[in-house]
Amino acid sequence: MSYPLKGLKVTITSGPTYEPIDPVRFIGNYSSGKMGLALANAFSEAGAEVKVVAGPVGFDYPTETIKVETAEEMYAAVMEEGLPCDIFVAAAAVADMRPATFSKAKIKKDKLDQIKLVKNTDILHSVAVSPERPQLVVGFAAENENHLNNAREKLTNKSCDLIVLNDTGALGQDNNEVWLLGVGLERKLPRASKTEVAKEIVKQLGELWSTST
Ligand code: CTP
Repeated sequence: MSYPLKGLKVTITSGPTYEPIDPVRFIGNYSSGKMGLALANAFSEAGAEVKVVAGPVGFDYPTETIKVETAEEMYAAVMEEGLPCDIFVAAAAVADMRPATFSKAKIKKDKLDQIKLVKNTDILHSVAVSPERPQLVVGFAAENENHLNNAREKLTNKSCDLIVLNDTGALGQDNNEVWLLGVGLERKLPRASKTEVAKEIVKQLGELWSTST
């Protein structure tokens, strides 16, 4: 058995975020955390020291885990406890918006259309431009149209080294079909279980690591 990433520190965001509206409601999404779990396992098997910053899911990760609920908590945990690291992977489906205020009282239904939303911090971009930028920064792109163009834009706009492109239909599923996009890299992986896909992503990162250091 070889350990191509032996001793490297890897931080992964995983799962959804929940943005509370009032005591009974939140903004969320269908992310299951399965891709983050598969990546945590694949990186561990490659010898890395893995830390997962995890949104709410119904299982425990096998590695060190910082549990969070909201996007802003995920951002703070990544910046304070996830860095410095060698490789950062943003596998979480972070809610793009949150209610501007949390209402302690349950909001009556005729007032629900008055909820004001504000943008959450882009965690991936923040890590990619931080003074503590990891050697490799990896993002996911969940697209349902113009897949390759949108993903290439994310690679540039979010200053990543690698983008894992998948269709929004992969959310919550056990299998996935992805493209790996980087500078001078465009590789389509065959549809496979998230476990197999994660192993391929880690293998690709092993190659990128050896050429980037
Ligand atoms: N991401 C993040 N912080 C956010 C939003 C997204 O870290 N506030 C990361 C995701 O973890 C993923 C990547 O950015 O790795 C792209 O997420 P995606 O949902 O595809 O794109 P968005 O940036 O949300 O843009 P859009 O919804 O317009 O496609």
